[in-house]
Amino acid sequence: MATTYSVKFDVAQKVVEVPAGTMITVAAEKAGIEINQPCGGQGRCGQCAVQVTSGNVRRRSTMRLSAEDVEAGFAIACQTTVEGDLTVVVPPQEKIQQHLTTGQSAADVSVPSGYDYLKDQTVQRIQITLKEPTMEDQTSDWARLKTALLHETGLSDITIPLAVLQNLPAVLREGEWKLSPVLFIEKGIESGGVGEVIDLIPGLIENDVPLWGAAVDIGTTTVKVMLVDLISGEPKGQASEYNAQIARGEDVISRIIFAGKGEGDKTLRSLVLESINELLERACRRGRSCPDKIYKIIMAGNSTMMHLLLQIPPSSIRLAPYITVANYLPVLNALEAGLMTHPTGKVICLPGVASYVGSDISAGVLSSGMSETEKITLFLDVGTNGEMVLGSKEWLVTCACSAGPAFEGAGVLHGMRATTGAIDEVWINEETKEATWRVIGEGRPKGLCGSALISLLAELLMTGVINKSGRFDYTLDTKRVRKGSHGGEYVVSWADENEINEDIIITEVDIDNLMRAKAAIFAGFSVLGDSVGMPLESVEQVLIGGGFGQYINVEKAVQIGLLPDMPWERFQFLGNTSLKGAYLALLDLKCRQEISDIANRMTYIELSADNRFFDAFTSAMFLPHTDMTLFPSVKIGGINNGLLSKIKMV
Ligand code: FES
Repeated sequence: MATTYSVKFDVAQKVVEVPAGTMITVAAEKAGIEINQPCGGQGRCGQCAVQVTSGNVRRRSTMRLSAEDVEAGFAIACQTTVEGDLTVVVPPQEKIQQHLTTGQSAADVSVPSGYDYLKDQTVQRIQITLKEPTMEDQTSDWARLKTALLHETGLSDITIPLAVLQNLPAVLREGEWKLSPVLFIEKGIESGGVGEVIDLIPGLIENDVPLWGAAVDIGTTTVKVMLVDLISGEPKGQASEYNAQIARGEDVISRIIFAGKGEGDKTLRSLVLESINELLERACRRGRSCPDKIYKIIMAGNSTMMHLLLQIPPSSIRLAPYITVANYLPVLNALEAGLMTHPTGKVICLPGVASYVGSDISAGVLSSGMSETEKITLFLDVGTNGEMVLGSKEWLVTCACSAGPAFEGAGVLHGMRATTGAIDEVWINEETKEATWRVIGEGRPKGLCGSALISLLAELLMTGVINKSGRFDYTLDTKRVRKGSHGGEYVVSWADENEINEDIIITEVDIDNLMRAKAAIFAGFSVLGDSVGMPLESVEQVLIGGGFGQYINVEKAVQIGLLPDMPWERFQFLGNTSLKGAYLALLDLKCRQEISDIANRMTYIELSADNRFFDAFTSAMFLPHTDMTLFPSVKIGGINNGLLSKIKMV
């Protein structure tokens, strides 16, 4: 029998018994203790460090620890195994902020003009009055209902799942043979198709009583839910929250790695379901409904999120030749999908294109209108990944670049998400090199969110604090530029003026990470343009979707070479295009078919196999770019008026 050891965690004063060789993170999980694992337990980030105050461990890696740390008993929990009875001190975990505070998640939608519930909607509630059975008419309950339904709807066939059939006798008799069945009519909505009874409600329910559906956008960072009355088409409540999977990896690669370990896939599935179910509850409270009255859910998200939601092994997404298990997923009922909505309600995952271009992008292309326009359009969604589509109604090419989560504040020393306490805009005085900033919410700053990083990088460049290679000018007469333990750094906020009591800085390593991220995105544009023989100047409009776009300053994003240099009138921020696309697909089967068509039509370019990408990336590893002719409006040292760009918000 394997030797077991006891592990005592200080936080919960809890002791668990585990076999020798168990990873400390696994033992912690068994004890019900949360240890954040931002890199998915790869030993890269060092954020899961704990202190072993007694007992034997084996450290597989100490990469992020100094000799003194190891001496003091610190260990990387995801890389250290239990080899004796242990006492472990878990440092306070930075809690994922419970509520999003910036409001940037609410999708601003209005009911599409011409929406017709009876013609467009695949979930229909109808009223049926049946004749009571008699000794002369001994037709079974289901045959009686089915005949009436076929007559009423003109469908060629109707099925009923067992769970609904089991309720039939009670509903018929409770409603005295009057009832309102809810049908899912997937094929042939107008006539002649096949329907399924997904619920039976006693009595005759009028159409002024809402019929509920929900659109869901599963982002790597944030999950958003919109509750919709399918009859009027109106959104009645929205809610959004961080994806609870974040504690098990901040980006898709970390999550895929986590999913491959032990029961990691199960854990990730239940975490995202926890997020979705909680948000459905919240949206229902706002919309005066309850989740078990929701009959149809449309899901959009990147391919990894979809795999993890359905516990489909995602490992092939990250390994060459980088393929998904499926881009088109079957229609499920809520019970098998794990949702708390009506158990026989339908869950429809929208189709994606490839491993790194998921249904959030196919839905986004539909809602952005680019698949309908003659104009050459660049659609961009920068989140934890950078996905982009170039084209018009005639053609669409797409690619994704692993920009990394730098613009979401991760991988940057004082980076943070765009929530209370985050600096979201920075200005540097050209003469004195002093910084001023703006903070989200009331109070003192805690760190720098993505929009601040873009603005800071641009200001550092334009005021000559850093050069085109991102290196600091130490000859400047300012205390803000100095050499620290991470190399060169610039102090944005002094310890005595912020919440964290240490200087908030940006280091040369951070700048390097940001430059890599922006270079990857710009190289993506270049390869897309190149693949269709089209220079970026011919792009007539740039549509930016996703949370990233909402608060960034286009002028500064151009100055650092993140966005192509073109007149500001060509940029439009569209907000959450993925959720909007899911909403449209929820209402209208034609929109859903159009999303499938878009996913089919998009030509996917795999950048990791494209030499042009590597060349374009190398050229873009300067601020703004090696080739300044691509950025004619950027005059380093010439403009620094700190004006916010005027951007059309749609
Ligand atoms: S090093 Fe353990 S989770 Fe990143």
